[in-house]
Amino acid sequence: MRVYFDNAATTPLDPEVFEAMRPFMLEDFGNPSSTHAHGRKVRSAIESARKKMAELLHCTPGEILFTSGGTEADNTILTGAIDTYGIKTVISSPLEHHAVEQTLHRLSDRNRITLVHVKLDEKGHVDYEHLETLLRKHPNALVSLMHANNEIGNLLDIQRVGDMAQGYGAYFHSDTVQTIGHYRHDLTRLKVHGLAAAAHKFHGPKGVGFMFIRKDKKLQPFIYGGSQERNMRGGTENVYGIIGLAKALEIAYRDMDEHIRLVSGLKQYMIGKLRELIPGIDFHGDSAHPERSLYTVLNVCLPESDENDMILFNLDLQGISVSGGSACSSGAVTGSHVLGTLYPGSKRGAVRFSFSKYNTREEIDYAVGKLVELCKVGQES
Ligand SMILES: Cc1ncc(COP(=O)(O)O)c(C=O)c1O
Repeated sequence: MRVYFDNAATTPLDPEVFEAMRPFMLEDFGNPSSTHAHGRKVRSAIESARKKMAELLHCTPGEILFTSGGTEADNTILTGAIDTYGIKTVISSPLEHHAVEQTLHRLSDRNRITLVHVKLDEKGHVDYEHLETLLRKHPNALVSLMHANNEIGNLLDIQRVGDMAQGYGAYFHSDTVQTIGHYRHDLTRLKVHGLAAAAHKFHGPKGVGFMFIRKDKKLQPFIYGGSQERNMRGGTENVYGIIGLAKALEIAYRDMDEHIRLVSGLKQYMIGKLRELIPGIDFHGDSAHPERSLYTVLNVCLPESDENDMILFNLDLQGISVSGGSACSSGAVTGSHVLGTLYPGSKRGAVRFSFSKYNTREEIDYAVGKLVELCKVGQES
């Protein structure tokens, strides 16, 4: 048996999405910037995709700008906002994805910004009172806090942070790569200026994503060289990627309630089984909490054992694809800056299970059974 529980790293493409993309890989190959019929047809498809996405997200089509994925969207918004608005202080957290964390460190190392970290509680949630203190202390700041942590699943009260940021006149960026397509975002209500998203996290294709940039807070581009994406992102568009992205978002919104019910059910089922069968099991961050964490992510904290270093390797040998930290980088427990920050020196192993609509309870039974066996070996050795 081979099972895939690494959906926070990437999800399988939905066949319906592939069917929507197919004509743009074969017949409709024109360059959308060409003014002849081939180009116009593709341009029209891109603009329809943008319009459809804007309707779902409750924003205007001009506020959706296509990118190569989440990393580019984060880089563009952060550097663009800092340059455009002369921002000197950025308030963020040490648990951000590297796409944000490394971008901010680079800007800080070059003395472009002062990077300030908000305090976290013992589960890794933002201390909202401290955030307010920082906002009061640093006028004209940029706040960059992710909606859901990709490793431990902790959810941010994004509405509350948006209201706070607005109250203090701060620019608010949120990395929503793990939540777009998994929750409904109403961008009319949400006081956010910039958002980042990637299609491959919700059964769309890899190498394509988008940023939402609020129209009254326009930014300078990050990639120059063409007038594409309203002069915000030079380069010929990833046409079939964009078509797939819009289709994946449409399906996600169409099936959202059922999807949440199904996937949360899988996660809760796994939590129950693990608690029943592995004494001393725990969960990193707040990932076992039904409301305060992403319903697709469960970060298991294994009992202490010398075998924990090999756990991902051994699970892989048993046919189970999971990750230990962020699979976007090394996939190793030691490589996780999130777990390193929250649990310095911990000898307990970490296994991140992340679920999708294609997983089943049988697969969970299989994975839990193998994990139980590996933990027993660990305890005996
Ligand atoms: C929270 C978060 N931000 C950003 C990214 C980067 O997205 P992409 O791989 O599309 O560049 C990821 C990918 O894992 C992520 O989980």
